[in-house]
Amino acid sequence: MKLLIPVSAGVEASVKRQLKYLGYGDCPANEGRIAVEGGWEDIARLNVFLRSGERVLLCLSAFSATTFDELYEGVYSLPWEEFFTPHTHILIDGKCVKSALMAIKAAGGVAKKAILNRLRERLGVSTFDEKGERAVVGISIFEDVATVTLDTSGDGLHKRGYRVLSYDAPLRETTAAAIVESSVFHPEKPLADLFCGSGTIPIEAALLAQNIAPGLLRTFDFTAWKNAPPVLLRAKEEAKDCIIRGKQVDIFGGDLSPRAIEIARFHAKRAGVQDVVRFACADMREFHSSKEYGVLISNPPYGERLSKGENLKELYVGFSKTFRALKDWSCYFITSYMGAERAFGKPADKRRKLFNANLECCLYTYLGKKPPKNLNVE
Ligand SMILES: C[S@@+](CC[C@H](N)C(=O)[O-])C[C@H]1O[C@@H](n2cnc3c(N)ncnc32)[C@H](O)[C@@H]1O
Repeated sequence: MKLLIPVSAGVEASVKRQLKYLGYGDCPANEGRIAVEGGWEDIARLNVFLRSGERVLLCLSAFSATTFDELYEGVYSLPWEEFFTPHTHILIDGKCVKSALMAIKAAGGVAKKAILNRLRERLGVSTFDEKGERAVVGISIFEDVATVTLDTSGDGLHKRGYRVLSYDAPLRETTAAAIVESSVFHPEKPLADLFCGSGTIPIEAALLAQNIAPGLLRTFDFTAWKNAPPVLLRAKEEAKDCIIRGKQVDIFGGDLSPRAIEIARFHAKRAGVQDVVRFACADMREFHSSKEYGVLISNPPYGERLSKGENLKELYVGFSKTFRALKDWSCYFITSYMGAERAFGKPADKRRKLFNANLECCLYTYLGKKPPKNLNVE
């Protein structure tokens, strides 16, 4: 089967590295989707293990569709009766780009009609109550080629299951994981997020450091489909076997807000990493460490409403001061505040455009001195 993993802009390289680590080799990417060959076991593994892909789509077909008749025939020809029952709640997720068929709603309607007609015929039923399991069918028409997919994940893979409360402007879990994964962080090095909010960055770092698969706590839509074998349990067993417990990890999350710290602790507990992440209510200016070669990874505020009446520029100036006092540390921060780099007072070693949900941001990287080889933390 052909599987497609949509990735948000800027994290493709990180997802490719994760796929390589999981044994899928060099996977080709096209139009923001990475293609992987695999079976049901791989659908389960990818959903459970991937840290930064958005979801896992099963690609059923790709065909030329310049008219609604061609679209209908192409969708009708697919074996929907193998996946669905008369109770399946079928949702259509349509997208049309640079094509003769640009009316998304109408294309979705045609696709749904083709699916229901096929089911009517093959299952010998006339009504569909759609009160059962969810199935999201993707109809993406790009340059007159319709790609039909089934979303095996359901809820996006950023929904790990641990983050149930929200605090100010949270970072997507998949984005946080990609930032940590592509940083110089190593489980032997200290990591601190001085603006941790609901705890996303420290929690994702702790999951990575202990090799805990992010999908262990949740389920996925494919498990309810008619023809899906019971493969999720095995993938979760494999994930449990991979966990590295008892490792000395030094991960810290700080925030000015007591409520944020309360929420972050609650989330860390739900994620099963409460013993390896320390949280404290503190102003980022108070942070110091005598340890070397640590990593600051943060998502500082970028909105105009700040407490204590300070402005964004002052906040980033203060953050820069805290960073400069840390010996040989590296610093990564993601923000949409355009004046961040100037306020930080030093040109970044790297800048990368990233999105937090739909908000365009930049990830600024300041690299510290490389540790000596015998420290073995690279
Ligand atoms: C954009 S939010 C971080 C969101 C977080 N990454 C998450 O996923 O939930 C910025 C956070 O910085 C905190 N903050 C603002 N000023 C601060 C300061 N001077 N020191 C420490 N934290 C501060 C806010 O309370 C807020 O939680």
